Amino acid sequence: MIFIKNQSLKSYNTFGLTYYAENFAEFNSKKELCEILHNNEDPLLILGGGSNILLTTNFKGTVLKNNILGIKKINDTNDNVIVKVGAGVVWHDFVLWCIKNNLSGVENLSLIPGSVGAAPMQNIGAYGVEIKSVFEKLDAINIANKTEESFNNNECNFKYRSSIFKEELKGKYIITHVYFKLSKKHLYNISYGDIQDELEKMEVKKLSLKSISDAIINIRSNKLPNPNKIGNSGSFFKNPIINQKKFDNLKTYYPDIIGYKTSNDKMKIAAGWMIEKAGYKGYRKGDAGVYNKQALVLINHGNASGQEILNLAKEIQNKIYIKFKIKLEPEVNII
Ligand code: EPU
Repeated sequence: MIFIKNQSLKSYNTFGLTYYAENFAEFNSKKELCEILHNNEDPLLILGGGSNILLTTNFKGTVLKNNILGIKKINDTNDNVIVKVGAGVVWHDFVLWCIKNNLSGVENLSLIPGSVGAAPMQNIGAYGVEIKSVFEKLDAINIANKTEESFNNNECNFKYRSSIFKEELKGKYIITHVYFKLSKKHLYNISYGDIQDELEKMEVKKLSLKSISDAIINIRSNKLPNPNKIGNSGSFFKNPIINQKKFDNLKTYYPDIIGYKTSNDKMKIAAGWMIEKAGYKGYRKGDAGVYNKQALVLINHGNASGQEILNLAKEIQNKIYIKFKIKLEPEVNII
């Protein structure tokens, strides 16, 4: 266990913002976590990979970094394997482990930054797959009474980029382990157009978990900034869901609008397209900016403050509302 006073959080958030935690501790096990909780009365902020937060101020309280590691097969049948994974494992390391062990289910989620424990919080998703589809259950510590509880798939109440831990139970639990149900049979999902184009470009003759993962790594590396080089936290906003009537109306003004049907009467609009249409792709104000290859990603060119990035986000929200009468909701957690 490591305890530090007045710790810089610069290397603990992928925006690379320099704010400080009054107290900072890393824990490697449930036992260490419970010890910290027993001796703590300060406000808490739990960090996984720090890839989905925008810090806008120093944190007056205790920041906890989850370092619980380990990947273990706990049940092996003819068709499936249940794997128990420590919440502190780097998400992409887990994906690579699955590919190496010939287990299918998370290959489309290759290269998503962040930790395994953070993944169910916001039901991470990419290229036609969400974590919900392979999630079995999770163990978490209830901060109020320091006891362990488990949540199955239904109990997590997964939605598009959200779960019960981002809503009703926000800030109340610390996830320690996540269990996944992975398939021995390979059920490839290459329905997302970009994947097929990339596989063709790569001249893949026979699909495999590895070739799909490689295709996704290529697509992501071309479209999304590497947080080790340019500070960012992936998509800053969610893609808004509107009703069909409003979509049809917008389409008369903007025939090239990009939307996908999510249910009978609902359409999900590509927020990146709207932001680009509003003229913000590649826009820069000081060191806060909009990525020039993907307008849904806000970036830190080097020395932006969290407040500057937040101001830019608000400016974009206002412009989008004026232009499309649609409210953009942040995907990242703003602290
Ligand atoms: N588009 C534009 N201009 C832009 C950006 C996008 O016109 O500047 C268009 C694209 O051409 C495409 C459509 O919008 O037709 C959708 O773009 P893309 O495939 O890049 O996906 P996205 O909707 O912007 C979502 C997720 C990403 C995920 C990708 C791929 C959300 C909020 N974001 O982005 O997830 O990787 O789909 O599945 O749902 C993240 O959550 O941090 C994240 C990166």
